[in-house]
Amino acid sequence: MAFKTLGQFIIEKQADFPYAKGELSRLLRDIGIAAKMINREVNKAGLADILGEVGQQNIQGEEQKKLDVYADEQFIEALSRGGECCYIASEEHEDGIDLSIYPTNQEGKYIVCIDPLDGSSNIDLNVSVGSIFSIYRRKRYGVPIQMDEILQYGHEQVAAGYVIYGSSTMLVYSTGKGVNGFTLDPSIGEFCLSHPDMKIPTDGTIYSVNEGNYLKFPQYIKDYIKYCQQEDANSKRPYTSRYIGSMVADLHRTLVVGGIFLYPETAQHPQGKLRLLYECSPMAFIIEQAGGKAISVSTNVSEIKPQTLHQRAPIVIGSKHMVEKVEQIMLLHQ
Ligand code: AHG
Ligand code: MN
Ligand code: MN
Ligand code: MN
Repeated sequence: MAFKTLGQFIIEKQADFPYAKGELSRLLRDIGIAAKMINREVNKAGLADILGEVGQQNIQGEEQKKLDVYADEQFIEALSRGGECCYIASEEHEDGIDLSIYPTNQEGKYIVCIDPLDGSSNIDLNVSVGSIFSIYRRKRYGVPIQMDEILQYGHEQVAAGYVIYGSSTMLVYSTGKGVNGFTLDPSIGEFCLSHPDMKIPTDGTIYSVNEGNYLKFPQYIKDYIKYCQQEDANSKRPYTSRYIGSMVADLHRTLVVGGIFLYPETAQHPQGKLRLLYECSPMAFIIEQAGGKAISVSTNVSEIKPQTLHQRAPIVIGSKHMVEKVEQIMLLHQ
């Protein structure tokens, strides 16, 4: 049975968006093009001169990997050429990239926040990495883009998604009407609908956190981790720990089989590590669209007002009942 391609699916779903005249569809197509270009390099990383570090740091203070830079270039290229995007906020650029100054993009309706390559520390280890994107609608035209159009609440996202470059390459996205997953068929170079209407299980048995930071976690997080490690009445351990170190890979597993992912605040890093605009907000949008929950200490991730492009936010995200358990334990400490 021939699978529906991303392009066919988008056109079919076009009916859901009477006001949009295909621009969002074209924008998703452009993102798909960048994903295919990145996938090609990720798949042959060991053979191409694409491994290792560039020898400079990015605004995050991280050693930039060659694939960070390559992925960033591919998204900028595809989004500039497509014309639907007027502004890009990228992990790899201190300031945003204002495309609205170019005639081809000055009418672009959408602002795109991207993590071009997520899980960079895993690239040279052949462990799954990803790309994350978040799409907002521009608020005004004919004038330069203002920061209030870029620093929008997570609940104002028009669409969000990720690509996971793993045992297979998948594009998973939502435009606010559920989550659909597409698997890249390299033989035809098309993303094909393989996971229609994805739903995250309400409960799960996997907790995912970097336990190397355990001693620095707030007490409610320590208590939750201890809760997961307890044996039940017949000395069975109901939970198991999995941590890949690529947010996209940890959250794709969480979406597919259920579970909880935590990147909490610590005394040294009260905002945690993960960036709000292009990691926490898009992943929260997807998990919530699939029936899960995403909190940042005591607020929903989607209700945080961003103040800066690279702002970080603590995050606990995943199966609804598991996140609610964290909230229950947090309340005991208030
Ligand atoms: P990026 O590679 O885009 O900088 O993101 C890395 C992030 C995220 O992918 C992952 O969940 C987290 O870093 C892992 O951090 P630790 O190594 O501190 O656990
Ligand atoms: Mn990342
Ligand atoms: Mn990154
Ligand atoms: Mn990085």
